[in-house]
Amino acid sequence: MEHQPSRPLDGRVAIVTGASSGIGRATAIAMAEAGARVLGVGRRQSALEELAGLHPDISTLVVDVRLDEAPALIIGAAVDRWGQLDVLVNNAGATARVSLDEVTRVRVADLFDLNVVAPTMLAQAALPHLRLSKGSIINISSTYGHRPQPGAAHYAASKAALEQLTRTWAVELAQDGVRVNCIAPGPTESEALARSGLTEEDVVRVKKEQAAQIPLGRRGEPQEVAAWIVRFADPTANWLTGQVLTIDGGLELV
Ligand SMILES: NC(=O)c1ccc[n+]([C@@H]2O[C@H](COP(=O)([O-])OP(=O)(O)OC[C@H]3O[C@@H](n4cnc5c(N)ncnc54)[C@H](OP(=O)(O)O)[C@@H]3O)[C@@H](O)[C@H]2O)c1
Repeated sequence: MEHQPSRPLDGRVAIVTGASSGIGRATAIAMAEAGARVLGVGRRQSALEELAGLHPDISTLVVDVRLDEAPALIIGAAVDRWGQLDVLVNNAGATARVSLDEVTRVRVADLFDLNVVAPTMLAQAALPHLRLSKGSIINISSTYGHRPQPGAAHYAASKAALEQLTRTWAVELAQDGVRVNCIAPGPTESEALARSGLTEEDVVRVKKEQAAQIPLGRRGEPQEVAAWIVRFADPTANWLTGQVLTIDGGLELV
């Protein structure tokens, strides 16, 4: 198939989890604008309805990715609708700011369930379809998947796990022509901090501290991360696998 440079994902079908806000929402829009048909997944129906109204090639599914039945429901919804699956973006995730003094078994288990187990089970359900399409998986980690984050150790550890799953699956699935890559954003405008249990005041303070620490002097915008997710899904990235690309204004370097 000939690809127009402005629509590099023409003919492709993508699933983006966590599409109801932040980076996932921007990714669903960017992928649809690049020519893909996109299934956006999340739990908030109204936010997903609003997203679907923005582009005719975006459909949505309301489901919690942690449920046992979620992988079959999500992959089935895309394949039933469009007959194929080319890209799985494992973006749904959450952060937790909790010290070693305060952490509980339940908190760790919940975090890993969302950030590690759910992407694993989705990748497994997607695999037969990705083998057919020679498609790819794009996992969303964080700068803190490979940089210490005092006060959020288990979030950092969950993202480190996702980065190592990326490298290992890349080798495991290479013989099938399935590529697995990872984007690691730095602090980016989204709902993540507000939903992490911080007060509004603390959110403002943390955002200021982050901006001051980032060499380029500001937090990122979700579209700036989404653009690289689209590039990783694009056929020009066909020889790229097992890589973690950090998009963070230089934060990982300091
Ligand atoms: N923003 C940052 O600074 C930053 C930095 C590094 C990495 N990241 C990573 O980027 C990804 C996106 O985060 P974001 O910053 O864009 O935050 P966000 O605005 O809070 O978005 C998180 C998304 O995940 C979805 N989600 C959460 N739990 C879910 C569940 N159980 N089932 C289905 N969907 C679920 C949310 O939708 P519902 O609430 O509708 O379910 C939402 O769409 C995450 O993996 C995050 O760790 C973010």
